[in-house]
Amino acid sequence: MIHVSRLTKFYGDYPAVQDVSFDVPAGQIVGFLGPNGAGKSTTMRILAGYLTATSGQATIDGLDVLWDSVEVRRRIGYMPESCPLYQEMRVHEYLRFRAGIKGLHGGKRRQRIDFVLKRCWLEDVRRQLIGTLSKGYRQRVGLADALLASPPVLILDEPTAGLDPAQIRATRALIHELGREHTILLSTHILSEVEKTPCDRVIIIHEGRVAASGTLADLQEKASANACLIADFDGSIDEEALGGLPGLTDAASAKIDGGVRLRLHAGDLGSLTPRLCGLAAAQGWKIRQIRPERPTLEDLFVQITGRETA
Ligand SMILES: Nc1ncnc2c1ncn2[C@@H]1O[C@H](COP(=O)(O)OP(=O)(O)OP(=O)(O)O)[C@@H](O)[C@H]1O
Ligand SMILES: [Mg+2]
Repeated sequence: MIHVSRLTKFYGDYPAVQDVSFDVPAGQIVGFLGPNGAGKSTTMRILAGYLTATSGQATIDGLDVLWDSVEVRRRIGYMPESCPLYQEMRVHEYLRFRAGIKGLHGGKRRQRIDFVLKRCWLEDVRRQLIGTLSKGYRQRVGLADALLASPPVLILDEPTAGLDPAQIRATRALIHELGREHTILLSTHILSEVEKTPCDRVIIIHEGRVAASGTLADLQEKASANACLIADFDGSIDEEALGGLPGLTDAASAKIDGGVRLRLHAGDLGSLTPRLCGLAAAQGWKIRQIRPERPTLEDLFVQITGRETA
């Protein structure tokens, strides 16, 4: 449904997005994950037709976002990260105005406005001036706007940013429900957000490039491919003897308080443990502890982006 091919965007001579390619199949919820400044909003603005790419191509439902921008806009609901709302309009006036632009009139318009006011928890503030709304409520108006014409594709830039914990949960549940009828690309810089939102796939973007992509399970597997065995010994050991361990692919040692820590990699960690115990017994090494270490998705994210997650 969304097809992005070698998309590149330069701001002056700064490459904000470089050679980005990905697909979002119809009916999927895809999480676009990356730290601040990674290029998420830039990519989404290009998809929504608010920014032109320097090179590369993007299509939505087979339509080019640049050449068929009017038709593309009919098919997408875009929620920008800071919603360019009209401060002096009341919520329901704004939605009526936006519905008109989207070609909704009469009874259909009233029905859709009532629907989105309800879905985005805005009924209590429908008569309030947008300029007086809190950030979280303004965020919800942006989401309501994106949903107005019930477009097949939703592009949501950080939909849970600025919301309180209860609203974050409610928004995740709403996205889950919307995922039954819409194709959704949503961005976030928070890993736990894609873990908790029911994303079918995750694309990790870093410094304008796609650094990893796949299902959460794929990425988890990729992270744990780097699993190792941690073995702590009291006193010193003769590391040369490790050469006799079948299947060992890498070994590193470090001093710890009163002993040595080995970090061992092997194709089959399961069979490495008894072999290591056998070697320790034969060498007279005093084992303090042996435990596997499986990197988490968070470790992978930190490894890719070099930043701790929130
Ligand atoms: N109009 C602009 N002119 C110059 N540089 C820009 C412009 N807009 C964005 N950038 C730069 O491009 C890079 C990518 O920005 P973008 O807003 O796409 O990141 P992001 O992944 O959405 O980050 P965040 O999580 O903070 O929203 C950043 O380094 C940003 O400073
Ligand atoms: Mg952004």
